[in-house]
Amino acid sequence: MSNNPLNDKLVLDSWNQNAFFWINAIENEEIESRKIVTNKAIIDAIISYSPDSILDMGCGEGWLTRELTIRGIEAWGIDGVSPFIEKAQTMDCGKFLLASYEDIVNTNKIDIPSVDAVVCNFSLLGKETVDNLVRSIPRLLKNNRLLFIQTLHPAIDSGELPYIDGWRQEFWNGFNSQFKQPAPWYFRKLETWIALLKSCGFDILECREPIHPLTQKPASIIFVASYN
Ligand SMILES: C[S@@+](CC[C@H](N)C(=O)[O-])C[C@H]1O[C@@H](n2cnc3c(N)ncnc32)[C@H](O)[C@@H]1O
Repeated sequence: MSNNPLNDKLVLDSWNQNAFFWINAIENEEIESRKIVTNKAIIDAIISYSPDSILDMGCGEGWLTRELTIRGIEAWGIDGVSPFIEKAQTMDCGKFLLASYEDIVNTNKIDIPSVDAVVCNFSLLGKETVDNLVRSIPRLLKNNRLLFIQTLHPAIDSGELPYIDGWRQEFWNGFNSQFKQPAPWYFRKLETWIALLKSCGFDILECREPIHPLTQKPASIIFVASYN
C-alpha cells in the first residue's frame, strides 16, 4: 500500500462530491478548450472510423453519448457516479448504466452487449484502476475492436512539474462553479500511455493532437487503437 495520500479510491470519491458542480460547468460550457477544440476533435475521430456501436466509458453527464446517438451510433454511457447517470437518463438520448471501472474489471459481465468501440474522453484518471480497466476493455469489444482515448497532452499538462508519472491534483482554478474537493488524477507521460496500450494488446493506429487556435499548442492528445 502506497503512502501517497492520493489514490484510486479518492478519484471516485471526489467525483461523487463534485458531481453537481461538474454538471453545472458542462451545461455552462465553462471549459473553453472543450467548446473550441476537444469536443469536436473526439467526435470527428470516432466518426472517421464509422463504428455502429460504442461505449462511452466514464461518460459523466453524458454529452458525448448523446452526440454519438444523434449521429446514428448505438451509444452506451457508463459512469461510477450516480448523479451523472441519473442526469443523463433524464435527457432521454442514449443508454446509460451505473458502474465503476472496478465493477467492470472485477465482474466478468456488465449488462450491455459487446460494442465496436470504446471511448474514454478525459475519463482515465486513476492509476491501477485505469491499468486494469484498459486490460479489461478487449472483452467488451467486437468487430472493429477500437479504443479511443482523449486525455490531457502529457508534454503540455506536465506544467512546471517534472515529466514523470505520478499523482496530481486538479484544483479547479478558472471554473465559476464552486467545486467542493480537489480531484486527484494520475499523470502518465507519453511513453507510459503507449506502453500501457501495447501491454494490453492494442496497436496504436494513430495519435491526434488537436491544436488550440489561440495558444497554438495541443489542447489534448487522442489515441486511436485497435485490438487484434
Ligand atoms: C473529467 S470527467 C469526464 C466525463 C466525460 N467523459 C466528459 O467528457 O465530459 C471524468 C469522469 O470519469 C469518471 N470516472 C473516473 N474514475 C471512475 C471510475 N473508477 N469508475 C467509473 N467512473 C469513473 C468520473 O465519474 C467522471 O464522470
